[in-house]
Amino acid sequence: MSALNLVLLGPPGSGKGTQGERLQEDLELPYYATGDILRAAVREETEIGREAKAFMDRGDLVPDEVIIGVIAERVDSHAAEDGFILDGFPRTVGQAEALEQKLSELGRRVTAAILISVPDEEIVRRLGGRRTCPNGHIFHVEFDPPSQEGVCDVCGAELYVRDDDKPEVIKHRLSQYSEKTEPLVAWYEERGTLERISGTGAPDAVYEDVRALLATLRMEEEA
Ligand code: AP5
Repeated sequence: MSALNLVLLGPPGSGKGTQGERLQEDLELPYYATGDILRAAVREETEIGREAKAFMDRGDLVPDEVIIGVIAERVDSHAAEDGFILDGFPRTVGQAEALEQKLSELGRRVTAAILISVPDEEIVRRLGGRRTCPNGHIFHVEFDPPSQEGVCDVCGAELYVRDDDKPEVIKHRLSQYSEKTEPLVAWYEERGTLERISGTGAPDAVYEDVRALLATLRMEEEA
């Protein structure tokens, strides 16, 4: 099969990271989550991290020029030759155009933009109870608790509450999503690559739908 270039779309807390972890394990493709990349840059106090921090703390998107180069470089790497999973990128029409341009230079295109939909009230419950691992693993105090409170089941790191998971910041992130990211739904629909998944079931049930979708995409490609 040719390269599988996947984009995970959806509002904050819809489960992009949760599904991305499963996809990465299953497909053995590189997984690039811009939120994780930026949080690591903030922790390491790199130039990008210093530029991004204030935007992230407020729940604003970081400027396109800060993030586009970060992803363009990864998509164009040896590791991504057989495909990639993007989580949290693109998030603006400008970013989607830059990705399209980069991929077209490489003779490639986005295979599918998978939109995970979840209602706003569920998002607030999910983000309010999320516990995050510095290495990107994700838990929820009620829906997906770690075996030992505060400790990552996968790597043993200490779990923390993200600064942008405070109620007032969640509200702002949702408004940023509808203003700047939701237009991408129509954008990918026009290109015939939008695939919708309901994110309201349990994580494994949602993943079954994602797997079924990938199987259909493979069959279509082979037909
Ligand atoms: P980012 O980290 O990408 O945040 P986000 O898009 O807001 O997404 P989240 O990580 O909050 O949620 P998710 O959809 O991954 O859900 P998760 O699986 O964790 O970005 C953070 C910030 O970085 C942005 O605000 C911005 O400032 C900046 N940024 C990043 N990318 C950028 C870009 N391209 N351009 C500009 N700025 C950018 O699940 C949430 C919780 O729900 C978890 O606790 C999980 O256990 C639970 N859960 C998941 N699925 C289910 C389920 N099916 N049932 C019950 N619980 C579930």
